[in-house]
Amino acid sequence: MTSQATHTVTTPAPLEGKVALVTGGSRGIGAATALRLAREGADVAVTFVNGKEAAEDVAGAVRAMGRRAVALRADGADPNEAAGAVRRTAEALGGLDVLVNNAAVGVLGPLESLSLADVDRVLAVNVRGVFLACQAAAAIMPEGGRIVTVGSCMTQRVPGPGGTLYATSKAALTGLTKALARELGGRGITANVVHPGPIDTDMNPADGPFAAGQAAMTALGRFGAAEEVASTVAHLAGASYVTGAEFSVDGGHAA
Ligand SMILES: NC(=O)c1ccc[n+]([C@@H]2O[C@H](COP(=O)([O-])OP(=O)(O)OC[C@H]3O[C@@H](n4cnc5c(N)ncnc54)[C@H](OP(=O)(O)O)[C@@H]3O)[C@@H](O)[C@H]2O)c1
Repeated sequence: MTSQATHTVTTPAPLEGKVALVTGGSRGIGAATALRLAREGADVAVTFVNGKEAAEDVAGAVRAMGRRAVALRADGADPNEAAGAVRRTAEALGGLDVLVNNAAVGVLGPLESLSLADVDRVLAVNVRGVFLACQAAAAIMPEGGRIVTVGSCMTQRVPGPGGTLYATSKAALTGLTKALARELGGRGITANVVHPGPIDTDMNPADGPFAAGQAAMTALGRFGAAEEVASTVAHLAGASYVTGAEFSVDGGHAA
């Protein structure tokens, strides 16, 4: 009879010891991303505006995985709050290694229907707030820092009318990402952008009035799940030699 030793092989969680901030982490893609980053070892801060309870639930789920978590009210439309979320995360969790710029508002409609207030709000949340968060993060991120920004498949292919303002805001993030990659590469900090296709969330429910047409635009013929975007964001949060890149997680919407 041969003796058998029992070997337990434990792989360290790839993001163990890292601190991540996910803006708009109370619901949808942001919530799925926060949970995924925690599963991979990170301590996580999430921001919200109205969804305090949902954000606290996400933070609770992160803590249940043995990680630290904090839910912060921070409106990306407010410049002080957009940058302040970075500072508050660092204060609460001891630094910042991963910034996920996820929060956004989607305002769609015919060009002539979009008011100046619409333009200002969408650009404030989707572009200015992201810029300011990146600026604040870059000031404190150590070598190995990761910036992952959530763009949209509408930067690659606009499937119909009504997307002028939203597509404008999301396209700006590609320019920001590439410029950040160049600016921060010397410090070992990466910046990448992920372009989701139609993903089943409150912003774009898979049973919504325009859902069938969106699903038909994809090669896979279906909506994606928030977790399917989160897995790519998490991969980029751990990837050391990928920067300035765009990733479509869109079921082939751009194919
Ligand atoms: N779903 C899609 O089909 C799709 C497709 C392409 C790209 N995207 C992009 O994916 C990202 C996430 O979208 P989602 O579908 O998960 O959206 P969602 O379900 O509507 O969730 C939006 C999240 O952003 C937060 N938020 C909204 N306005 C904010 C503000 N002014 N400041 C800070 N946080 C704010 C919300 O917080 P509260 O809970 O407090 O309101 C919530 O956590 C966005 O960048 C979106 O443009 C989505």
